[in-house]
Amino acid sequence: MTEKRIEVAVPGQVNEGELLAIDAEGVPVLLSRVDGRVCAVINRCPHMGMKMSRGHVCDGVVTCPWHGSRFELRSGENVDWVNAFAGVPMPRWTHRIIAMGKSPAGLTTLPVEERADAIIVSLPG
Ligand code: FES
Repeated sequence: MTEKRIEVAVPGQVNEGELLAIDAEGVPVLLSRVDGRVCAVINRCPHMGMKMSRGHVCDGVVTCPWHGSRFELRSGENVDWVNAFAGVPMPRWTHRIIAMGKSPAGLTTLPVEERADAIIVSLPG
């Protein structure tokens, strides 16, 4: 499978504790910076495919704004599965209902290169 490298932003646009949503030739990409390094993931939550652009970022972990799942931005690893509804925390007994049969899964990470004047993401071909 060949990769397609696309310039998606300039370094000053991607900051610690913030999310930047980009349409990379039709692929929704979410950028952030963790401990100085730029991270790129596909901007689709593995729970229901919703965009995570309005999520909250803290210590390199993004929280999905819809049902509260949390993911490591660097690895994409899921660290907490659904626990909220429309951003409102819900009691534990509701979590299986909110999950709607979906098992925990991680975000899809993308290779990213930061140059002095550009951030370049590699998309699957
Ligand atoms: S869509 Fe992200 S946790 Fe449900």
